[in-house]
Amino acid sequence: MKQLSSVEVRQLFLAFFKSKGHSIEPSASLVPIEDPTLLWINSGVATLKKYFDGTVVPENPRITNAQKSIRTNDIENVGKTARHHTMFEMLGNFSIGDYFKKEAIHWAWELLTSEDWYALDKSKLYVTVYPEDTEARRIWHEEIGLPNESIIDIKDNFWDIGAGPCGPDSEIFYDRGQAFNDVAEDDPENYPGGENERYLEIWNLVFSEFNHTENHEYEPLPQKNIDTGMGLERMVSIFQDAPTNFETDLFLPIIHATEEMSKDKKYEDSTAIKTSFKVIADHVRAVSFAIGDGALPSNEGRGYVLRRLLRRAVMHGKKLGIDEAFLYKLVPVVGTIMESYYPEILEKQDFIQKIIKTEEERFHETINDGLQIITDLIGELKEEGKDTLLGKDIFKLYDTYGFPVELTEEMAEEEGLKVDHDGFEIEMTAQRDRARAARSTENSMNVQSAVLTDIKVNSEFIGYDKTIAEATLEIIIQHDEKQDSAAKDDAQLIFDVTPFYAEMGGQVADKGIIKTLEGNTVAKVVEVKKAPNGQALHFVELIGEVKTGQSYQLVVDQEMRAKIIKNHTVTHLLHRALKDVLGEHANQAGSLVSPGYLRFDFTHFEQVTPEELSQMEQIVNEKIWASLPVETVETDISTAKEMGAMALFGEKYGKEVRVVNIGGYSIELCGGVHVKNTSDIGIFKITSESGIGAGVRRIEAVTSKEAFEVLHEEEMALKEVAHLVKAPQLKEVVSKVTSLQEQLRELQKENEALSSKLANAEGDQIFKNIQDISGVKVIAEKVNVKDMNQLRQLADQWKQNNYSDILVLGTSQGDKVNLLAAMTKEMNEKGFKAGDLIKTIAPLVGGGGGGRPNMAQAGGKKPEGMEDALSAVLDWIKEK
Ligand code: ALA
Repeated sequence: MKQLSSVEVRQLFLAFFKSKGHSIEPSASLVPIEDPTLLWINSGVATLKKYFDGTVVPENPRITNAQKSIRTNDIENVGKTARHHTMFEMLGNFSIGDYFKKEAIHWAWELLTSEDWYALDKSKLYVTVYPEDTEARRIWHEEIGLPNESIIDIKDNFWDIGAGPCGPDSEIFYDRGQAFNDVAEDDPENYPGGENERYLEIWNLVFSEFNHTENHEYEPLPQKNIDTGMGLERMVSIFQDAPTNFETDLFLPIIHATEEMSKDKKYEDSTAIKTSFKVIADHVRAVSFAIGDGALPSNEGRGYVLRRLLRRAVMHGKKLGIDEAFLYKLVPVVGTIMESYYPEILEKQDFIQKIIKTEEERFHETINDGLQIITDLIGELKEEGKDTLLGKDIFKLYDTYGFPVELTEEMAEEEGLKVDHDGFEIEMTAQRDRARAARSTENSMNVQSAVLTDIKVNSEFIGYDKTIAEATLEIIIQHDEKQDSAAKDDAQLIFDVTPFYAEMGGQVADKGIIKTLEGNTVAKVVEVKKAPNGQALHFVELIGEVKTGQSYQLVVDQEMRAKIIKNHTVTHLLHRALKDVLGEHANQAGSLVSPGYLRFDFTHFEQVTPEELSQMEQIVNEKIWASLPVETVETDISTAKEMGAMALFGEKYGKEVRVVNIGGYSIELCGGVHVKNTSDIGIFKITSESGIGAGVRRIEAVTSKEAFEVLHEEEMALKEVAHLVKAPQLKEVVSKVTSLQEQLRELQKENEALSSKLANAEGDQIFKNIQDISGVKVIAEKVNVKDMNQLRQLADQWKQNNYSDILVLGTSQGDKVNLLAAMTKEMNEKGFKAGDLIKTIAPLVGGGGGGRPNMAQAGGKKPEGMEDALSAVLDWIKEK
């Protein structure tokens, strides 16, 4: 067996497929770009969806990649099994309508077994096939020469993720021998594809040949694809003869660095200890990469997954005796292991460490609260004579505080309690269902359409500096078919050249009209999108007849375009200013450039303060007033990078890129349309800043006329206020309002004083009305005061002056009633209690209450019951 490092395993895979004419695509960001259906990139194919469903045609139909991926459906299993991970790497080769099953199988076999490549022992390889896919079985058996016993039918071998391309797959297994197994030799699961550790699934070949339609029918695809995924970590475990994926050069350095911090606990100590080391090694990788790709810990979505992983790792650290923030110290170790293919971790190390450390420290504070909660809970259960810790409590500790279930259960068991693990599982299932329901219901892939994919004509965008152009109509599509002419309804048109900008990079599409050369309008352009091969597809409402081969005048709505480009250029200025004010981590996470306003989403982990916002506004406006020239050049990506151009996070660029340089202040890769000089923008005004979840903030802003309108509206509102507060000048409004507030406070104070004086005066009156009930002196009166507070003041007055033995007061405002009862100590000694009295009379005013023996109060909603309540007092005393 060859001894290969993880770097070699990865490189051999890519080099092999390069030698078969594939282009190597770099690993994409873990955070999906413009794909609301996925929380994380979870496979190699996830980043290539636009090619698979035909939305875009790739330059080369053969692609290979090593793709970082995250799957979170099995977090509980990580560390316990040999092969579960949250973050892992998938090696894949892809064919977009080019080669198919035969080549995919032959090349897989060659890479795995050839002496020049992986050189695995052929007799240890097994494959599974979809039973109806007799073609795959035939190729494996007749062409590759695998014995029929090594080819196993599995009816689940069909890769299908809802609407979109799908098809049967064939999985390849490597037999590690019975020594590696966790099930007995005669166990029914002991076969390739069964639940066991012996037969390791190393590669999945998907033959995507059907369109799963919206109506759940399976139609043959216009073009067939190949999608494969090999698990890098598993392959490495084979080449490094490691018992599990963790004893490889991908994880051992992290485990050893953790051992340095865990003092007396070592990896080899026990299975449970091993699990803790493995969890830490797995999670710190996932967390470092995800943060490096712009995700941040938070309470929802992606951010919540990160928070859970981080907390789980911290809890396992505690099991190893590490009681302080430590995960962040492992980031450089992860970075060094992955450096050759993923330099981003070391590049962003400071930022990643800062986020992890802050989160760890915050969690250490909550842990202490959590530990207290467990201890209290256990104490309570024992006090109540109960013997079981409920599933919902275990779940709450797990979900809210991130306590590993085992730890909670262990603590309970140490105290002699039973644990309701089934109850916990029920809560977990409910949680998973909620998570599933929250996921987007949009289809993950589009259904392939052959009509658009087949269109290969050239169409050039010539609208960077003009809005009117003459162009020849090349293609008409109506009702999903190509036509030579059309005169009514909606249609889609492609011209040889066009000044119309197709929606891209946040900039909305142009609108406008199409005229004959004689000047008759024949169509209204309502939308422009890119076709799979990159042409601008004009969505039009036809007014007259159009024919292919004829020339037309394409006229873009100039006023709308002028507004759009101001907002586009200012978006670049804002992006730069954001980084200047908040830091380089503030990356673009989405953008909309429309004629009315601009919207910019970016990664940032806290609210942007009003001061920071006004600082950005100031910077952007200064760049506008400085009349900076906006220059664009087309060049190759490496020259662009040398120029210091800011590339969009996670975005992939072709060989030729366009650099937009705004006076040297902002240099960004961008295909959009811009103003010639920043002074064209006029003014810039931020209208809102808000959080849109998971460490992503959103700024909305306006320019030029719209900005003036916002400022004007605000000024008008201010003038109105000035008028109302009688400020002669706008700048005096603040001092006027401040002094009005001061006056208001004074008046409130005065009002309070007066009403308590009134209450006292009333008191003098009511305290005269003393009734004698069998020797007990009683005052039971309705008074006219404003709340319970004033009733209490009256009661104080009563107490100081010893007016009677018992006092009952009632007051009402609207349909709210307050009652108060008070008694002397002597009455209490005779067995009369204010609390009992109030409970007796409160129901008569439709309420309830209670209190101490000397003083009690009640609220109610039935003022009409007040008389009855007060006379009930006398009855109550008589009865006693
Ligand atoms: N997309 C296939 C998988 O993830 C290769 O297994």
